[in-house]
Amino acid sequence: MALHPPQAQDKLIFAAAGSTMNTQAEQFTANTPLHRSDLDQESPVAQYHSWFTAAQKSGQVAHPETCCMSTASLPSGRVSSRIVYMKELDSSGGFVAYSNFGTSRKADDLKRNPYVSLTFWWEAMQRQIRVEGKAERLSAEESQKYFEMRARGSRVGAWASRQSWVLEPKEGENNEEGKEDDGRMQLEEWVKEAKEKFEGKEDIPVPPFWGGLRVVPDRMEFWQGRDSRLHDRFVYELQEETGKWKLERLSPRDGTLTSCKRHQSVTLIILAREDVDGWRLSAESSDPG
Ligand SMILES: Cc1cc2nc3c(=O)[nH]c(=O)nc-3n(C[C@H](O)[C@H](O)[C@H](O)COP(=O)(O)O)c2cc1C
Repeated sequence: MALHPPQAQDKLIFAAAGSTMNTQAEQFTANTPLHRSDLDQESPVAQYHSWFTAAQKSGQVAHPETCCMSTASLPSGRVSSRIVYMKELDSSGGFVAYSNFGTSRKADDLKRNPYVSLTFWWEAMQRQIRVEGKAERLSAEESQKYFEMRARGSRVGAWASRQSWVLEPKEGENNEEGKEDDGRMQLEEWVKEAKEKFEGKEDIPVPPFWGGLRVVPDRMEFWQGRDSRLHDRFVYELQEETGKWKLERLSPRDGTLTSCKRHQSVTLIILAREDVDGWRLSAESSDPG
């Protein structure tokens, strides 16, 4: 059912919802309530483990380890996000993903700013989990253990990759399909070099610029979709003084006061009203004292 016709012809996409356009957003009708008492009272990591296991067992979430990792560059504050696989969850509470830490954009961001967020979305379960914390590199020995589990092609590929570098086209050269090279030939050359380097060698060491990144959380949110956007949200925040987690319910609505948080130097109030098109952001005072 069309709710509102597109306001302007310049919108290529308007009120997108699944496979249709100009329609109401999908409702979260599974309506499984999430109560505070359903959650692990001590540890969000234990809670994550329980939800991850449920997602895996359901057979309905193709890759529950897939998440969006965001990092931010300093001093600009510019944020970038990308999908990665969360490959390990330490019993001590670290989320581990593997990547290139030489040339990638995330590597560049992490040099000056260790804060990382991971967001998981398991549609079939109508669940979102947000993980925020500081990241640290795994040692070469730790990374080697996982590296050895990878297929030979992926291990060689790790040596060949200069992740996120610009690949310059080789002028005047055509690829195998007879098309003008657009930079792919450079990548294939690096792969060839890496293959030659390890030819006949069974053991391939983990490259010094590749390995695991452990995100140690200090804030985690569990989100369960509910009808009419009245979702259940619970956040765990690590208390520095006690080392214990504080658990609180958050308001879900996107049409009322959604967030009012006091930071050290500024109080931000974000208001979104249903009768006004858009968001109103006000910043108040400079020092809450
Ligand atoms: C499904 C999927 C899984 C991915 N898993 C990883 C991963 O585990 N590690 C990784 O470095 N990149 C992974 N990527 C590629 C990243 O999204 C990204 O292209 C790459 O890390 C470079 O990003 P950066 O330069 O912003 O750091 C994955 C991409 C997709 C679509």
